[in-house]
Amino acid sequence: MKHENQFLMLFAGPPASGKTTVARTLAELLGEQSRVVHLQSDEIRHMIISPIYSKHESITVYASLKALSKTFLRNGYSVIVDATFTRVNHRRPFRVLARRFDVKFLAVYLKCSLQTALKRNAERTGWRFVPSERLAGIFSSFEFDNSLVVVDTETHTPREAAESILSLLKTRIEAS
Ligand SMILES: Nc1ncnc2c1ncn2[C@@H]1O[C@H](COP(=O)(O)OP(=O)(O)OP(=O)(O)O)[C@@H](O)[C@H]1O
Ligand SMILES: [Mg+2]
Repeated sequence: MKHENQFLMLFAGPPASGKTTVARTLAELLGEQSRVVHLQSDEIRHMIISPIYSKHESITVYASLKALSKTFLRNGYSVIVDATFTRVNHRRPFRVLARRFDVKFLAVYLKCSLQTALKRNAERTGWRFVPSERLAGIFSSFEFDNSLVVVDTETHTPREAAESILSLLKTRIEAS
C-alpha cells in the first residue's frame, strides 16, 4: 500500500503558533490527488464531552492520534499530525511509526513569540480561546530537540511556511 512520496509530518508548537493554518495551506498546495490526512489533536480532544487537559487525557489523545496515523499510513495515506507535541515523548512514537512504515518523516516546530501567540489567541472565541496562563505555560515547558525543524510564522506567510516545509520534505527524501 505504501507509495513513493508518502510521509508522516508533525506540526508542533504552542497554541496560535499557526499549525492548523499552515497545515491547511500545505494541503491546498499538495492538491486533491495527494491523499493527505490532517489529524488534529483539538478534534480528538473535543470528542471528550468535558476535556480537562490532564496528563492522562493528553496521553489518551496522543495515543489516539498515533492509532489513527497508523491506520492511515497502512492504507497508503500521508499524514500531518497537528498537535502541541510539548514533550519529546509525545513525538518519539511517531518517528518510530514512520520508520516502521518506511515513509519520510519531518517534525516541524511552528514558531512565533509568546506576545504574538497571545495576540492571535485574544481574537479567538469559544473553546478555541486558550487561557493565557496555559498558553504561557506551554511556551515555557516546550521541550526542544535537534531533530525539530523550525519555521517562523511571524516572518513567513502561511504560504511561504508551507512552501518551505515542502522543500524541506523534499531534501529529506533526497538525503534518505
Ligand atoms: N504566517 C502565519 N502563519 C500561520 N498563521 C498565521 C500567520 N500569520 C497570522 N496567522 C494567524 O494566526 C492564527 C494561527 O492559528 P492556528 O489555529 O493556525 O494556530 P494553531 O497552532 O493551530 O493553534 P492551536 O494549537 O490552538 O490549534 C490564525 O488566526 C492565523 O490566521
Ligand atoms: Mg490548531
